[in-house]
Amino acid sequence: MAFQPRLMNLEPKELPNQWYNIIPDLPVPLPPPLDPEKGESRIKNLPNILLAECLKQEFSNDRWIDIPEEMQQLYFQAGRPRPLFRALNLEKKLETPARLYYKSEFYSPTGSHKVNTAIAQAYYAKREGYERLTTETGAGQWGTALAYAAALANLKCTVYWVRAVHDWKRDRKNLMELYGAEVYASPSPKTEFGKTLYNQDPKHPGSLGIAISEGMEDANKDPKAIYCLGSVLNHVLMHQTIIGLETKKQFEKFDDYPDTVISCLGGGSNFGGFALPFMHDLLKKGKKIKFIAAQSQAAPNLQGEYKYDFADYAEMTPMLKMYTLGHQISMAPVKGDGLRYHGCSPILSLLRDQKLIDTVAYPQDEKHVFERAKEFIRTEGFLPAPESAYSVACAIDEALKCKESGEKKVIAFNISGHGFLDIPGYREVLNLK
Ligand SMILES: Cc1ncc(COP(=O)(O)O)c(C=O)c1O
Repeated sequence: MAFQPRLMNLEPKELPNQWYNIIPDLPVPLPPPLDPEKGESRIKNLPNILLAECLKQEFSNDRWIDIPEEMQQLYFQAGRPRPLFRALNLEKKLETPARLYYKSEFYSPTGSHKVNTAIAQAYYAKREGYERLTTETGAGQWGTALAYAAALANLKCTVYWVRAVHDWKRDRKNLMELYGAEVYASPSPKTEFGKTLYNQDPKHPGSLGIAISEGMEDANKDPKAIYCLGSVLNHVLMHQTIIGLETKKQFEKFDDYPDTVISCLGGGSNFGGFALPFMHDLLKKGKKIKFIAAQSQAAPNLQGEYKYDFADYAEMTPMLKMYTLGHQISMAPVKGDGLRYHGCSPILSLLRDQKLIDTVAYPQDEKHVFERAKEFIRTEGFLPAPESAYSVACAIDEALKCKESGEKKVIAFNISGHGFLDIPGYREVLNLK
């Protein structure tokens, strides 16, 4: 039998030294953020909320943005470039004619892709003279990533963590604390806004929208602190394009190219980071690619309404044109809680509106998704984060469709993180003893 490589590495010198900004390549202009009709201007307040460099990147029309050399070194330290695997064992088990490839964001010091933007935001914060970072987190992966990046940059970090998840991920909380972060279950009595919800119900499960409001309020009150967001915004997706840019080089080395590109989607950062460099090929080179975002029925934001809405619960952000379920909607907690956000990034929402992104939403009991993750760990050996299990499930479902049709599709999927600190979630859903 001819030798078939199971993984493709890149040389350190092949690490991308620029991020890809899709804004100038979008088929129609990206609708800008807007102020609501009433109240103070949120847009004028943006320089108080976002890092100056990130704000510049947010509205940049430059297709390529340099990654500073010092930051490239931090990417090396965090294990980049990461391998692209060919899922030969899984293909065999599924008896599919499809070729499956997965990107290994699980090889991250904190467990997920979130370090790719955390490193950038902490680096810019240090350069701009801040001493403390504040943020929200859902799955806990973003909070851990920012705590890690803050520690490396010698900055303090405060994390507001959606209570429904905070309460079952004690190990991850301790990991953030080991990095030196202060962690609060959200809604918390620590902020004025959090206090109003906390006093109504001290067991309030929280949401990403609420935790964002708390992180922003905290930073607003402290001139030495700046708020950092782990998803949704243009510059966050752009930092994440390092994933897809590496993957494209790896496909070249495999001498292959994907027909289908899949990832899970909460606010959109890992999907965007993985998919947008391929979207460039569709928009500019006429490539035919099907993009599928894997979501939960608890928060199928891509099936919501495409309209202007706030990114947070307390309406402190400008309004963004996005697919949204409504910024104050209540959504049932799931184990893949990083997917439980009311809105999708404006860039991906626009592409969805242009019918360039498909979506599938899996049932809230997560049984199907976690069973698929079990098939994956038993063939490929890696334990996906609960969120990443949605990407795995979607890839396997597509591969099984190929088995029926006989199509030899090439399916690329991103595994945004590992699930080593999420075993209690697997235990509950799969009834493990
Ligand atoms: C491992 C992992 N994957 C995916 C997500 C979803 O976020 P995004 O859509 O921004 O990638 C999260 C969010 O916390 C996560 O922790």
